[in-house]
Amino acid sequence: MTLAVYPGSFDPITNGHLDVIAKAVRLFDEVRVAVLHNPSKQPLFSLDERMSMIREVVSVWPTVKVESFRGLLAVYAHDVGANAVVRGLRSVSDFEAELPMAHMNQRMNDSAVTVFVPSSLQYADISSSLVKQIAMYQGPLTDCVPASIERALRAKYVGGNA
Ligand code: COA
Repeated sequence: MTLAVYPGSFDPITNGHLDVIAKAVRLFDEVRVAVLHNPSKQPLFSLDERMSMIREVVSVWPTVKVESFRGLLAVYAHDVGANAVVRGLRSVSDFEAELPMAHMNQRMNDSAVTVFVPSSLQYADISSSLVKQIAMYQGPLTDCVPASIERALRAKYVGGNA
């Protein structure tokens, strides 16, 4: 059985992330979306909120599970017995940032191979920060996030707060 972890902050999950998950589902028996618990960052959505938002939008895929992790990704991947770590690539700059991490993760845990999945062109411009910025100014989020995520974003920024 092949198990891939797909790590990230997912603050919030976007259609770009879902595009990567859809591709990973075709490659691996199980895909675990691993939400980073990073105490030094101030996310818009709490860890619990991020996890339940993700669970809702990945429920169409029975082979996708959602977990959280803290500390080193390589250690988490080792502990769950992952064969692969999936990372999406939107651009050459993503690759430049990701390759050193893949090398370092391989040094720490060579049983999990980093697999780079190219994003589909229509999602190459999406990032969680941009989505939050557009939501903050009540801009259109069509095709950027699923409807449930858009509702959660709008609720956070009601009255221009957050
Ligand atoms: N579609 C849409 N957005 C994408 C995307 C895609 N396919 N791929 C990346 N992104 C965006 C995210 O939305 C996010 O945008 P933002 O910066 O505007 O919020 C950004 O790219 C990066 O997000 P993400 O992929 O979630 O990465 P991250 O930087 O939050 O976390 C980890 C990356 C979790 C893999 C890394 O920090 C990690 O491994 N942490 C654990 C500690 C560790 O092991 N460190 C040593 C590493 S060698």
